Amino acid sequence: MKAVILVGGLGTRLRPLTCNTPKPMIPIANRPFIEHVILRLQRQGVTDVILAVQYLAEQFEALLGDGSRFGLHVHVMREAEPLGTAGAVKNIEHMLDSTTFVLNGDALTDLDLQAMLAFHRERGSKTTIALTPVDDPTQFGLVEMDRDQRVQRFLEKPRLEDVTTNMINAGTYIVEPEVFRYVPPGQHFMFERGLFPVLLQTGDPVFGYPSRAYWTDIGRPQNYLEVNQDVLIGKVQYPIAGDVTSNRIWMQGQVDMHASVQLVGPIVFGPDVVIGRGASIIGPTVIGAGCHIGDNTAIESSVLWENNQIAEEVTLRNCVLGNQNTIAAHTVISGGAIISDQCQIGEHNRLDCGIRFWPGTRLGDKAISF
Ligand code: GTP
Repeated sequence: MKAVILVGGLGTRLRPLTCNTPKPMIPIANRPFIEHVILRLQRQGVTDVILAVQYLAEQFEALLGDGSRFGLHVHVMREAEPLGTAGAVKNIEHMLDSTTFVLNGDALTDLDLQAMLAFHRERGSKTTIALTPVDDPTQFGLVEMDRDQRVQRFLEKPRLEDVTTNMINAGTYIVEPEVFRYVPPGQHFMFERGLFPVLLQTGDPVFGYPSRAYWTDIGRPQNYLEVNQDVLIGKVQYPIAGDVTSNRIWMQGQVDMHASVQLVGPIVFGPDVVIGRGASIIGPTVIGAGCHIGDNTAIESSVLWENNQIAEEVTLRNCVLGNQNTIAAHTVISGGAIISDQCQIGEHNRLDCGIRFWPGTRLGDKAISF
């Protein structure tokens, strides 16, 4: 069985974290998300993964190689320019010979793909769309079905009074390759606004597969911290690398910490982390490889990627730091703030309210404070 993973998007909503790292490669619990998706496919019987890449394509090639590390074949297929979700699959249509999984590269889910495949076959479906319920249907594209779960209509962000279902497209599909005859080659074409409406017009059977499996789109900034926290508290199946202690502290290598450090799990530590006297780390928190944390610094419910240098008396709470940032003493970063890569933040700053710093930002001492 083959699977296509769509990973060519720009990930604009998650900027600036996606300025240097494509969205499907951003780490969750210190592991590039795409590795988790590929391992999940391998466990579900997929033998060949075709990665439809465009933005920052070379990073996928470098990380995944030919896939042998994951026990399957990975084929990285580049698009010269973004072709959209359905256009990207059209571009590699020649590699598809039978029923195929197609996955958005930014959906974290533990959906049972084999059960979905059995449903697809039993209904004689040409395209089956995994569906997930949401609390506020007015913010999403909804999928309306009849009693047999055959799709009748797509509703884009309806007004409250027009809402007839709370089921949305979860970005996981099972397709018969023949449906791509409706997709124009070499043109930007999407599933939701392009191919699916055409299939309803032509009468090709399109079915919805609702499920209550865990599902989240990692590409929404407010979701990124939450996803890491869900993984650490075990709300979704996502194996975390490293040795784990009874108080849910994962060590992925050498961590050099002063005896006075206070730890409250769940916490994931990458290798080569150094933590100074009197510091406290409160979970759910992820500390990436090579981070240095100064004396009396407090970190809570945050995600730090690699090689961040945090000085003494800093507070990090509910925030994300990308790679190689330097945070000077007495600064407070909280409230969903995102500091991307190679930023230098001076002393005595207070960064809050979802503030976002693009790569390479320099901020002097006491530049933002209140
Ligand atoms: P936003 O810009 O934040 O909306 O993110 P995105 O660019 O990733 O778009 P979106 O979340 O709608 O994309 C869903 C999935 O399809 C993601 O995994 C994208 O990487 C992928 N994708 C979107 N557009 C393209 C494309 O033109 N080519 C390929 N190969 N993949 C795409």
